[in-house]
Amino acid sequence: MKEQEIIEETIEFVKKTLADTEKGHDWDHIHRVWNLSKTIAKKENANMFIVEMGALLHDIADPKFHDGDEDIGPKTAKTFLENINLDCKLVDEVIKIVENVSFRKSFEQKFKSKELEIVQDADRLDAMGAIGITRAFHYGGYKNKKIYDPGIKPHNNISREEYKKEDSPTINHFYEKLLLLKDRMNTKTGKELAEKRHRFMEQFLEEFYKEWDGKE
Ligand code: ADP
Ligand code: NI
Repeated sequence: MKEQEIIEETIEFVKKTLADTEKGHDWDHIHRVWNLSKTIAKKENANMFIVEMGALLHDIADPKFHDGDEDIGPKTAKTFLENINLDCKLVDEVIKIVENVSFRKSFEQKFKSKELEIVQDADRLDAMGAIGITRAFHYGGYKNKKIYDPGIKPHNNISREEYKKEDSPTINHFYEKLLLLKDRMNTKTGKELAEKRHRFMEQFLEEFYKEWDGKE
């Protein structure tokens, strides 16, 4: 199969697999991360095919929705890639991205590649800016969390375990994760794109508190 055919087959597989998923992690998220990954990869020196495949498969099975099973994503991706007879060296490189891309995994990340860095940046950028704000409140609504509670302070230096069982209001998620992402970008291009999205979130919060207090 040609690379383009493999990409198209992968798109079909991902759309089908994610059809019933929670809507913050659905095909639209994958589509945005795929596009952003290509935007970043064009400016960085990386293998575009690996970047595209990693981006398309990066959330194929989120542990949050599979009883915390962290192996199910890489396993699902591997089975698919072996079924379409992708060269095993390429399978390995793509699987490494699926295994290591998530924020949770980054607490103990050992593997490094330019392609992983790019997909990780794109995934993090999609948690920032206007889209990131929307996704956070969508997730909070899905979990029936409070929007904001001035009496519950955000945790600093949140640990991996705390992150997994996090149950605080959605506004706290900005301080626990979203506002930290800017300084965790890997690539130069990712850093540049993150600046604007970061500022937008800061402006949003400023406005939010004013409205919360009924000042404006
Ligand atoms: P990753 O896939 O990188 O591990 P997550 O699955 O934790 O990231 O997050 C996916 C999306 O859901 C992000 O937009 C994130 O901001 C949002 N989200 C995750 N946890 C929370 C939370 N506790 N409160 C609000 N939004 C959350
Ligand atoms: Ni993602």
